[in-house]
Amino acid sequence: MFQLLPWTFAVDTIHFWVHYGLVCLGFLLGVITILVQLTKPAPYGKFDQSNNESWGVTINQRLGHILSDATPGVLLFLLVFFLYGTERHYINYVFLGLWQAHYIHRGIIHPLVMRYSKAQVPLGITLGGLFPNCLFSFLCADWMSSSKYPDNYYYDPRFIIGLLLFVLGYIINKWADFKLRSLRRQKGTDGEGSNGYYIPSGGLFELVACPNYFGELVEWLGWAVGTWSLSGLAWMLFGCATFIPRAAHTRKWYCEQFMEYPRARKALIPFVY
Ligand SMILES: NC(=O)c1ccc[n+]([C@@H]2O[C@H](COP(=O)([O-])OP(=O)(O)OC[C@H]3O[C@@H](n4cnc5c(N)ncnc54)[C@H](OP(=O)(O)O)[C@@H]3O)[C@@H](O)[C@H]2O)c1
Repeated sequence: MFQLLPWTFAVDTIHFWVHYGLVCLGFLLGVITILVQLTKPAPYGKFDQSNNESWGVTINQRLGHILSDATPGVLLFLLVFFLYGTERHYINYVFLGLWQAHYIHRGIIHPLVMRYSKAQVPLGITLGGLFPNCLFSFLCADWMSSSKYPDNYYYDPRFIIGLLLFVLGYIINKWADFKLRSLRRQKGTDGEGSNGYYIPSGGLFELVACPNYFGELVEWLGWAVGTWSLSGLAWMLFGCATFIPRAAHTRKWYCEQFMEYPRARKALIPFVY
């Protein structure tokens, strides 16, 4: 029989209220983020301005991304899962594996292999990413290590759809990021300079400006559906709060920089937005 809430979570009252209190903070952070980022994109990458004093001193860009993503996404998540959590069912491990597959790539491999145009990033950007990443990594790890799912959850449509969405989004996200990376190698060897920006093409780039953000959004949608949790929903909505404005700014930026940029391309979601 279909159960609306298939899991049991945190029998301890304090644990319960701390978790849901932080979930509320996560929703609030999403609202603040979208309001701020609609007005002005976070100043890194294309939107980095040389006068970034307000964001503080700069640090090595690769180190900055490792600090802001691997520390919470890999380390904090593992610590919470294994030292704080109590549930050790195969479902808990499946979601642990999915999360780590994303963050080992995003927090370690991606920063080490990407070809950034600038070697430095403002420390404020790193800290601005670190805080929400800590909050949501804690929440998702707490949820996944303290929730008991039924033995036959692998049979539940929420698990199956969530898993498929996550894997699909993962593939899109990694493909798009590596496609962006390859732009600089190709153009650089042609003598056009390896730090410039080019119009990406092929696959989902024909439909949207930011398929890497689209892929990540699909991943977290899959996470929210598969875990069927408010912490997962808050994290997915926080992703929307980041990706929706940044993709719109990016599309606008492409249109301003390149006369030949195809105006029919959407920003984030194929055929929709
Ligand atoms: N979960 C979250 O809240 C969150 C937030 C932000 C990002 N992310 C994820 O982090 C990853 C990277 O995000 P991002 O915002 O850094 O992506 P991005 O702005 O698309 O940049 C990715 C890389 O590609 C380069 N690049 C972008 N457009 C290019 C072009 N037209 N020509 C040549 N090179 C280009 C960038 O160089 P420059 O750095 O020199 O511009 C950078 O090295 C993505 O997978 C994204 O989904 C997650």
